[in-house]
Amino acid sequence: MKVLLTGSAGFIGSAVKRRLEERGDEVVAVDVMLDLAHGATTPPVGTHRLDVRDADAWADLLSGVDAVCHQAAVVGAGVRVADLPVYASHNDLGTAVLLATMHEAGVRRLVLASSMVAYGEGAYECPEHGPQAPGPRSTEDLDAGRFDHACPVCGQPLRWTLVDEAAPVDPRSSYAASKVAQEHYASAWARHADAHAIALRYHNVYGPGMPRDTPYAGVAAIFRSSLERGAAPRVFEDGAQMRDFVHVDDVARANLAALDAVVAEPAPFAAYNVCSGRPISIAEVADRLAGPDGPCPVVTGQYRLGDVRHVVASPEKVARELGFTALVHPDEGIADFATAPLRD
Ligand code: UD1
Repeated sequence: MKVLLTGSAGFIGSAVKRRLEERGDEVVAVDVMLDLAHGATTPPVGTHRLDVRDADAWADLLSGVDAVCHQAAVVGAGVRVADLPVYASHNDLGTAVLLATMHEAGVRRLVLASSMVAYGEGAYECPEHGPQAPGPRSTEDLDAGRFDHACPVCGQPLRWTLVDEAAPVDPRSSYAASKVAQEHYASAWARHADAHAIALRYHNVYGPGMPRDTPYAGVAAIFRSSLERGAAPRVFEDGAQMRDFVHVDDVARANLAALDAVVAEPAPFAAYNVCSGRPISIAEVADRLAGPDGPCPVVTGQYRLGDVRHVVASPEKVARELGFTALVHPDEGIADFATAPLRD
């Protein structure tokens, strides 16, 4: 298959590129080489340096392409309000231009990198009162060290359950809003253009080549970077917050499975969790990265406004419909990541 891969020089894009080339697919690699993600601006050999928003500059690259794999995005938590237009421009407008250009060129298959941030909070239940959908936590509770959501009926702490793709979207940052918008554009395009799109909702991706510590980096890179400086990882809240850490190589495999599926003309649009299916607490991630010899992680009790308590994914739908199951168990993957090279 011939695949146009956007964001091909990034952490996830380069893993997808490697896997596609390994199995003999033809890859048209494009990347804008954003400063924020790359520092360096020279693209890897064979990569077309271009901005997806500038359709005139790249429309001819779609010739003979079977599917587009759209990994290019401004990532991170949406740290500054001033960044709102950056997310909207690169992620929302970029995707809209991409889809219109694909339509013009008759390319009708898309795999889109989405994120678990689309869900906002994970899924919860009260042992007595069943499923609950809590809103954001109050500063009063967080200041008092009450990190768990409480049942609105009886006040007992809620338990996390697995979030599946039927959960409503509830984006809580500019980044999350842009990821949800990308999914909505892709879904609208699929219907209007008689096309097919699959969105992959990545959970917490980690692995070799992950960018170093920046305000936009995920917690695994932040912990790794402090350990490299000889400093203890600082674990916020009580460390019991749960996530699903999925290895970048598994994320690449999920993309290949999605490309195969989207070419086979499934429903116009579908979204899937991409996760390991092995929940792990943030304190445990810090412990595994520090290992027996590293500085012992410190649980600070601090919190970040806007952080959600738990997001733990169900891997069932992606296994059933795309045949994808993660191969790297976080126990081994995170231990290996402790010494893997990071991107400068
Ligand atoms: C992260 C990404 C999000 C991405 C998602 C899925 C960021 C900032 N967030 O969301 O964009 O879509 O994964 O891949 O990139 N923590 C500490 N110590 C620290 C930093 C964080 O304990 O130094 C804690 C946080 O309080 C939080 C947890 O670690 O409870 C996870 O943080 P983080 O990786 O930043 O955000 P996610 O919500 O998991």
